[in-house]
Amino acid sequence: MSASEALRARHAALVDEILHHDFQYYILAEPEISDEQYDTLMRELVALEEQHPDLRSSDSPTQRVGGGITRDFPTVSHDTPMLSLANSYSEQDIRDFHRRVSESLGIAEVEYHAELKLDGVAISLRYADGVLERAATRGDGIQGDDITPNARTIRALPLRVRGKHHPALFEVRGEVVMYKEDFARLNEEREAAGDKLFANPRNSAAGTLKLQDSSVVSRRNLRSFVYAVGADVAGVETQSGALQWLRDCGFPVNPHHALCTDIDAVIAFWRHWEEHRDELPYEIDGVVVKVNSLRGQRELGSVAKSPRWAIAFKFASRQANTVLRDITFQVGRMGTVTPVAELEPVLLAGSTISRATLHNEDFIRDLDLRPGDVVTIEKGGDVIPKVTAADHSARKENSTPFAFTSVCPACLSALRRPEGLAAWFCENQRCPAQVRGRIEHFASRTAMDIEGLGEAVVDVLVRQGLVSTVADLYWLHEHRETLERVERFGKRSVQKLLEGIESSKSRSFERVLYALGIRFVGQGVAALLAGRFPSFDALGSATIEELEATDGVGPRIARSVRSFFEDAEALAVVRKLRDAGVTSHGTARTVRTHDFFSGKTFVITGTLIGYTRDEAKALIEGFGGKVTGSVSAKTSFVLAGEAAGSKLDKARALGIRVIDEDEFVSHITASETSADTA
Ligand code: IVH
Repeated sequence: MSASEALRARHAALVDEILHHDFQYYILAEPEISDEQYDTLMRELVALEEQHPDLRSSDSPTQRVGGGITRDFPTVSHDTPMLSLANSYSEQDIRDFHRRVSESLGIAEVEYHAELKLDGVAISLRYADGVLERAATRGDGIQGDDITPNARTIRALPLRVRGKHHPALFEVRGEVVMYKEDFARLNEEREAAGDKLFANPRNSAAGTLKLQDSSVVSRRNLRSFVYAVGADVAGVETQSGALQWLRDCGFPVNPHHALCTDIDAVIAFWRHWEEHRDELPYEIDGVVVKVNSLRGQRELGSVAKSPRWAIAFKFASRQANTVLRDITFQVGRMGTVTPVAELEPVLLAGSTISRATLHNEDFIRDLDLRPGDVVTIEKGGDVIPKVTAADHSARKENSTPFAFTSVCPACLSALRRPEGLAAWFCENQRCPAQVRGRIEHFASRTAMDIEGLGEAVVDVLVRQGLVSTVADLYWLHEHRETLERVERFGKRSVQKLLEGIESSKSRSFERVLYALGIRFVGQGVAALLAGRFPSFDALGSATIEELEATDGVGPRIARSVRSFFEDAEALAVVRKLRDAGVTSHGTARTVRTHDFFSGKTFVITGTLIGYTRDEAKALIEGFGGKVTGSVSAKTSFVLAGEAAGSKLDKARALGIRVIDEDEFVSHITASETSADTA
């Protein structure tokens, strides 16, 4: 073999190997090698192609990320039109569909294939000799945009199909989606950067596919599932067979589908997913019902823009229109002023909605929201409804753009919007809204867990001038008589409240630290800090450098902790807490990492008996582990409590180790005894 033949062979072997591992990871969720081993292969391939650019083929895995900037997406014609589906919303509609199908085909019993209707963007993928040649959006169904560089970044889509059993030229159709967690993260980043927010994962996926820089697309982590092949494949005679064939070729096929021998089974499938849709990591808006036999499909054909052999069976809308009565403002414990939509109450997916967050000033400006407008509200996978669109048509002529408040609604001090941020802040530390927020946080279950100190009680205490800092709580007993005279309080509840406050004095130091509400110091960070700096004195005198030397503490956190301990009022609170006898030091845990937890990724599911989820999460994070929301091949352990559901099933399917609460506790206690006190 000549030197150049040897290089070529090595290149081909590397490409094959990486494509194989992509398949194991993205399609089967059964990785055979570690991320590090994968990266090593990838690095070798990149280096090889850099030295010998002629080796670079279009199906090389290096060609997924970022082939520069695309100025315009060429318009391309679809080989066959991309149709859409007729919609139906009720059982009756579905039975009518079945009657039409059965009459046209002249058979009483029709076999259907029921699939999830993924709420994303349709895509067409063309493969020539098994290699991805072109990817296009649906457009108007006849012509779409050629977005090949962006589609290549979707890791689950094969750049080259597996095996040889495929037509020379064929098209595959599917849906590109953004997972809910990726969507939430993207919007958080955009909010922090002051960028316009996406209304939902679908818009976000659509916007991402149209980005000019494919390296940005790659970071957005789009996903895809395919559901149709546009060519005759020998031996494939049904929709279920087509999906099996696609899967064998290495395509991502959604695992949730059902072969239904009658229409009742279709309805049962629809009911099941209507109920369980929120458990999926992506959004669906219904079920697609297809005649399973491809011959049956051909016989039925299409009308206008949709096929007669399939129908979308949609879920009840989680969208509603209502009137925006007013825009009010809420002040958080950190002083952030958040605009709130006050809505004409409207029923949405089972609950009455009368308020929704409007995020920030830019969000209002981008939608040009004004009181009186009709707005669209939407409920996604999360429970919190969002305003996603506004209809300006009913507006009066003299209507003017909404002006964001320039003063704090709670204390009237002037607001400031720091450079580069989207939020306005009230900077008055004594602002009653902030005071209330800080005390509510302090008393909350995951912090000091003070029974009897909820929102309403905090409000009374602050209004009566009985407390203005969290430390004042510990002197409330001196005002017992005043308290007992407060309307609706009474002796019993005052007694309970004071007892609750008293017993909170012995909460652990890390809880106290978290309860203080220092910016960026969540439960996990508090645990890390308390382990390294086990008293107020130690923490208060730590320098930025010393703080940053703590694992998991970055410059942002370090600066925030420093400025807290440089603030005279904050220090006074700390001193007063200490004087009251609140825990002011903990146990040093020089090495608070723990082999069992450190560097591992956990998913918590079901109900734990001894811990809230937040507590378990803080513990895991405190020991150097990570907690994520969904089970994937990267999950190390699933901590399963009582009544664990689909996450447990998924863990089992992926062969991920499941531990129960007892085992979890045994690791925690093992670590507590082995961690030396300094
Ligand atoms: S089959 C002839 N299957 O829904 C149309 N479509 O309104 C064949 N969709 O444009 C489409 N999940 O983007 C089909 N499992 C699924 C689907 C699905 C989502 C989308 C698709 C299509 C739209 C139809």
